[in-house]
Amino acid sequence: MPSAQLTLDPHFTVGTVNRRLFGSFVEHLGRCVYDGLHEPGHPAADADGFRTDVIALVRELGVSTVRYPGGNFVSGFRWEDAVGPVEQRPARLDLAWHSTESNAVGLDEFAGWLEKVGAELMYAVNLGTRGVLEAVDVLEYANIRAGTRLSDQRVANGRVEPHRIRMWCLGNEMDGPWQLGHRNAEDYGKLASQTAKAMRQLDPGLELVVCGSSGAQMPTFGAWEHTVLLHTYDDVDFISCHAYYQETDGDVGSFLACATNMDHFIDAVVATADTVRAQLNRSKRIDISFDEWNVWYIDRFRAEEQITDIERWPTAPRLLEDVYSVLDAVVVGNLLISLLRHADRVTSASLAQLVNVIAPIMTEPGGDAWRQTTFFPFAITSRLAVGEALEVKLTSDTYLSAAYGEVPLVDAVATHDAATGRTAIFLVNRSLDAATTVGVDVSHLGDVAVLETHTLADDDIHASNTLADQERVGVSPNGSARVGDGTLTVDLPAVSWTAIALG
Ligand code: AHR
Repeated sequence: MPSAQLTLDPHFTVGTVNRRLFGSFVEHLGRCVYDGLHEPGHPAADADGFRTDVIALVRELGVSTVRYPGGNFVSGFRWEDAVGPVEQRPARLDLAWHSTESNAVGLDEFAGWLEKVGAELMYAVNLGTRGVLEAVDVLEYANIRAGTRLSDQRVANGRVEPHRIRMWCLGNEMDGPWQLGHRNAEDYGKLASQTAKAMRQLDPGLELVVCGSSGAQMPTFGAWEHTVLLHTYDDVDFISCHAYYQETDGDVGSFLACATNMDHFIDAVVATADTVRAQLNRSKRIDISFDEWNVWYIDRFRAEEQITDIERWPTAPRLLEDVYSVLDAVVVGNLLISLLRHADRVTSASLAQLVNVIAPIMTEPGGDAWRQTTFFPFAITSRLAVGEALEVKLTSDTYLSAAYGEVPLVDAVATHDAATGRTAIFLVNRSLDAATTVGVDVSHLGDVAVLETHTLADDDIHASNTLADQERVGVSPNGSARVGDGTLTVDLPAVSWTAIALG
């Protein structure tokens, strides 16, 4: 008897899967930009200094949007420093990460890199140490064709066509006491509203993201969203969510269940946004931009020595270079399931980050670029999750997790693309020691066959890919998947993530 069963029906839709769900994040932090995507001396570098091996991996990852340039970095950033002739750009102290920023890569270079990658730019303005005027200035520089001081400056810098950036973040994590220019919800809500109104005076068609909470564990969570949205409801389109998870004290069971926390986080923010909608008597709905999410061993980072000697603030230091395991990849796959399950309200998301810094892609200066374990669930979900997210009717055995109580052993979501008739199913088995068989009622899909299967699992759940052993972990076809009498049956190994395409 299968320990989990689901029913798929293409009529039971949650919402259309927005391609922006498969976004990522590039911050001027550590070796994400420098020695990551940009390394002029590397044998694979193109004429602009960008590594073509990294570009190929980013394309394979299937990234739709990239949030830039931070992160905590943006709250001390002057965008003007990083445009124009490179040799004239000033080096600056990056207060957020105790580093030295050369400004060799800025908006124009990064937009050019995104063209090579085929992804959309999502730009964050500095509302920590700057304000309305600087936000409007960078918008003028980026999006106005020509004929004004700043747009002409962009043209003179060699970027004749405007960047046409649609999505803009109104600051970063302004609820966090660690943020430069941190404000309370009242003060930030007013500033965000003024900034949004000014930006819309220039271009009413922009899509604007106001800062929500830096995590559901923040003491101001809920109240922050409510107050900020009371100030900005008419001015913005999205409110952000950020969440990072890690295995703590060897509690693998709770870590494997952390997508239930993401589910609750999203449900709570949706409820709060809809409460404000009712209070203000508006018809418009605010969506969620989950624009930082990942596994991050933040405790390890906090334990690292912080450099305080300002004479030694390095350029592009090795920071936050988490090496991800099979277990971490299963959790990332499960977090993607949670995002897809909320496709009606989560219409944009960014895996934080993209290269070297808590990233699915790693590089060595002058050397190789390789895929971390977390690369695989992201790349495959991005490729297969097309069309409508489906509400799967799931019944599963459960287990008791210390952090989240009773949780299902199996989690799953599905998508259906009416245009091609293809269906994709994404599943995790959270059991630490037992394989499980899942039965999926696919009778409502008509006559379907298994097109492709991928399972990520390993006897060593802490196995990872490293410079020395770059292909230690990957995905394998799941030969157990079979369809008969309207039922898809598949065996899921312990601690595993699986994707199945039907058509
Ligand atoms: O992604 C790393 C950091 O996490 C970002 O700079 C910040 O926004 C968040 O706290």
